[in-house]
This record gives sequence, structure tokens and C-alpha cells, in this order.
Amino acid sequence: MAKKFNIAVIPGDGIGPEITSAAIEVLEAVTSRKGIELFTKELKAGGDAIDNYGIPLPQETIYAAKDSDAVLLGAVGGPKWDNIDPSLRPERALLGLRSGLGLYANLRPVKVFDELKSASPLKNPGQIDFVIVRELTGGIYFGKNGVYQSGDRLPDGTVKGKVAYDTESYSEGEINRILKIAFDLAMKRRKKLTLVDKANVLVSSRMWRTLASQMCFDYPEVEFNCLYIDNAVMQLINRPSSFDVIVTSNLFGDILSDEAGQIAGSIGMLPSASIGTPGTPGLYEPVHGSAPDIAGQNKANPLGTILSCAMMMRGLNEEEIASEIENAVKKTLESGLRTSDITFVGEGKNTTPVGTKEITKAVIDNL
Ligand code: IPM
Ligand code: MG
Repeated sequence: MAKKFNIAVIPGDGIGPEITSAAIEVLEAVTSRKGIELFTKELKAGGDAIDNYGIPLPQETIYAAKDSDAVLLGAVGGPKWDNIDPSLRPERALLGLRSGLGLYANLRPVKVFDELKSASPLKNPGQIDFVIVRELTGGIYFGKNGVYQSGDRLPDGTVKGKVAYDTESYSEGEINRILKIAFDLAMKRRKKLTLVDKANVLVSSRMWRTLASQMCFDYPEVEFNCLYIDNAVMQLINRPSSFDVIVTSNLFGDILSDEAGQIAGSIGMLPSASIGTPGTPGLYEPVHGSAPDIAGQNKANPLGTILSCAMMMRGLNEEEIASEIENAVKKTLESGLRTSDITFVGEGKNTTPVGTKEITKAVIDNL
């Protein structure tokens, strides 16, 4: 019997629809040659769902996503929904999907293709190849928050007024399970793990450090070290090629991965996988956002989404397909095709500016 995959596709907003349909075209081309049947079901989330149903994440989207083998997501959000009630913002859809599916680990690999080294703003980027393991369903994103009226005054007599607060809290269980993912990943790679935190100030960070130091005993081969977040952002620019696996909290991971995107030349190139307990479908999405300014103009770089599909195939134990997709992307870059985010002045005559459709077709031809 032919193998089958049910993929839930959430195009979302902005450039989301263009990049997801490009990636699905690639996925269809590569799976059909292997005799795999691919069933895709399109689901609404984000601004797209707000416009249609008045809420960012309909139950039906969660159910269908849970029922799939894997979820492919484009991007959510845009200026159109900026002034909406915060509990209904498009971003809530993403957070709801992550927590609803229990996707507590976000893997964001940062690898600079040789062909794109000149796109990195760093003078000598070297061999950049690291993975950010970001905790995804805890911390300040999901902690207690609110606004209350305070009758108190500040020491200088100024009226305090309203107080808004968000809290960073992590349980041992939450920390241990993400640390385990990171240590296991380090074992499969260059066996180096860096914990990024703010343990000189935050109590929760100190717990991360304690638990990580304990887990080190189970992984004697892993070279483990810790960096404060402020130092880490600097070291990432100073010596990016020295990093292998970075594990960190939800908020720090969010920040570090955008920085990493820039180091890699363009955030448009970066894929990601959000995974939970074995058996739950993973969610695969590019790291970049919905880029409403270029939506619908055939300008978006679909490679981050296409590479996310490679991660999806690897997650579904289709290593061969995953490598084929990655090689096709590499060949496409070698042939000089570039979307505008990876086109740079002075890059030479060997590159050709193209749009979303053209670069997608080239990836398919290169499979
Ligand atoms: C990301 C994004 C999201 C996040 C936003 C859109 C809620 O920035 O996936 O990195 O902060 O997690
Ligand atoms: Mg982000």
C-alpha cells in the first residue's frame, strides 16, 4: 500500500499563502516520485481567520491540525489587525497552536550556504552551522499577566497609576524536557551545548543553570557552557561559527533567532520545526514573518518554507526526501538565482534576480 501523509496547511497572512503554496508544490513533486500520497488540507488561522470567523484560531483548525501528520504554516499578522483587541490578535493563533498541540521545543537551525556568505553582514562569517533550541510553550509568553490600578506612590511622590505585568516562570519539568532535547541534539552534532540565560539577575534562569549542570552528568561527552543573554548576542556576532547547539527560554530564543537570521544573510532562508511529545504532529514554519509590504507581488523568498518542509520530512522519518529538498535548494542557489532579500549590491554578475514563482520552479527542476 502506498505511503500517505496528511499535511495541514495554514497559509495565514501576508506572504503566507504564496510561500506555503510554493513549498507544497515542491513537496508534491518530491513525494510523488517516491510513490507517496500527499493529502493537504487548508486551514484558517491568524488574520485570515479573524476576517472569516472573527477569531484568530477556530477550534476546527486545532482539531484538523491535531488530526494531521504534520502542519505547515506560512505566517500570521499584519497592520490590518494591529488595533484589534489584544486577545484576538493574529499572533494568538500561533501561540494557541503551539500550546494546543503541546509543541514545547522549537528548533531553528542556522546554516549559511556558501553561496550566500556575501549576503551576511559579517566580514568573515566562517562556517556557520548551529541550532537554536527555543522553549516554546512556557516562560513570559504564557506566564501570568495583567494590568491593575495601584493606589501607591513612587518614592518621589509620583502617582504610580496603572501597573502592567508579565511573568517569567518555569517549572523543573518544563526545563528538563527542553534541556533533554538540546543535549540529545548536541550528541548527534558536534557535541557542544550553550545555555543562554540571565542567571545573574533572574531566579528562573538560575534554575535552568542548576538543572542543566545536573543533566551534564548524563552527557559526559557534551561540552557544556553558559552565557548571559547580553553577552550571547555579542558572541553570536563575534564568533558565530563556534556555536553548535544553543538552548534557551521562549523570549530569549525569539530574540536570538532574529539575530541569527541576519547573520545568515536573510531571515528569509531560515526554517523551523516545533515539536512536542512523540506522536503529536509537528509544526513547520519559516522563521520570518508575514512581510505585508511585499505580499502578493511575487517577491517573497519561499526557501525558508521549502527548507521547513525538509525538516518536516525528516520529522516523518523521510531522511532521503529531506536531503533531496535541501540539495535542490543548494543547487538553485549555486545556479545564481536570488530573490530580492538575498540580492546584494556588488555581488557580481553571476546572480539573477527572480521572484517567488521562478525560484520555486528552479527548486523543483533541481530535485
Ligand atoms: C516567532 C514570532 C512569534 C513569536 C510571534 C509572531 C508571536 O516572532 O515565531 O519568532 O514571538 O514567537
Ligand atoms: Mg520571532
